[in-house]
Amino acid sequence: MKVISIVGARPQLVKLAPVSAAFADTEHEHLIVHTGQHYDADLSDVFFDGLGIPDPDVHLGVGSGSHGAQTGSVLLALDPVLEREKPDWVLVYGDTNSTIAGALSAVKMHIPVAHLEAGLRSFNRRMPEEHNRVLTDHCADLLLAPTEEAMRHLAAEGLSDRSELAGDVMVDICLRIRDAVLAEGLPAPVLPGGIDPARPFLLATLHRPDNTDDPGRLAALLESLASLPVPVALLAHPRLVARAEEHGLELDRGSVHVGRPLPYADLVAAVLASSGVVTDSGGLQKEAFLLRRTTTTVRPETEWVETVDTGWNVLVPDPHAMDPDAWAGTVTRAAPTADPGTPYGDGHAAKNVVRIIEGRDAKGRRA
Ligand code: UD1
Repeated sequence: MKVISIVGARPQLVKLAPVSAAFADTEHEHLIVHTGQHYDADLSDVFFDGLGIPDPDVHLGVGSGSHGAQTGSVLLALDPVLEREKPDWVLVYGDTNSTIAGALSAVKMHIPVAHLEAGLRSFNRRMPEEHNRVLTDHCADLLLAPTEEAMRHLAAEGLSDRSELAGDVMVDICLRIRDAVLAEGLPAPVLPGGIDPARPFLLATLHRPDNTDDPGRLAALLESLASLPVPVALLAHPRLVARAEEHGLELDRGSVHVGRPLPYADLVAAVLASSGVVTDSGGLQKEAFLLRRTTTTVRPETEWVETVDTGWNVLVPDPHAMDPDAWAGTVTRAAPTADPGTPYGDGHAAKNVVRIIEGRDAKGRRA
């Protein structure tokens, strides 16, 4: 069997690592197509090097652009690759513009498509990721769901026949890297200047368009971080840096100390060194949950509802509207004591993914 994984953005590279390792343990041929949606070394190269992912077999080099331009460029560049390679399956990951473009290109060429991380929903139609995941689920042949909740969403949309619970491949990689980091005796994390890892600090990221693109909203969020009574290590995504510069907003002020996005092992070490996380990233919400650090999510909703239900994650859509002491109390709250269980699986999801694909015929039916 020949399988092509289509990836392009940072979170997809993290998910690709365990999947590519699982395919390497089989006789199957697994090719990697990198769309080039993320091209900065910080967002792409360091993941291939750091997570031991083989170099991409094909690089489409599409880069940035409007949603339409970026998605269209991937479609245009992918057609000849799929035509030439004639894979038995195309595997797409998550909810980015590379995901929907990969799924569309394959489905129109009658190549079976499997969607990893299927069934997540925010029910927020302002999010580009929500359009991408709904459309990808409805055009894919096989839906690999990470959670029971995702399975319920797929059933509610009439997609049960094509759905299987695989577990979450992020657990595989996050726990593997956590164990490697701990085995090294928790090396000093790479943190922005001004952050003392021996004292409590919060780790923060912000990159969603709803948080970065409106100058008033971004100014209020940055003010809420800057006024906290604990140091904040803000790992700045290029979108955040670009928008702050455009709007004339200083990132490095008050309690905030700015650093660059980290390679995966350094990120895991930084989360473990932190006393809590403030973020709008879906991946980091779950990584903090797996590493047992409290998270405050600056969004009105989350796809990862299990992190909230178990008390590890609290949603604060508008920190600036809160009393400053209540905001500080929320981000520095104590961790829950109850065992949250394993809602994201047991760390063997990538093997499940391979096994499930092996068990389906070319129309996605159980073979
Ligand atoms: C994308 C995904 C989002 C995911 C995120 C992880 C979509 C719709 N969104 O958002 O789901 O959480 O990746 O990071 O696909 N830029 C650079 N260098 C890069 C990449 C981007 O400078 O290597 C800058 C550009 O100014 C670009 C902006 O960041 O316009 C946004 O990049 P883009 O890939 O469009 O989306 P992300 O915000 O990264």
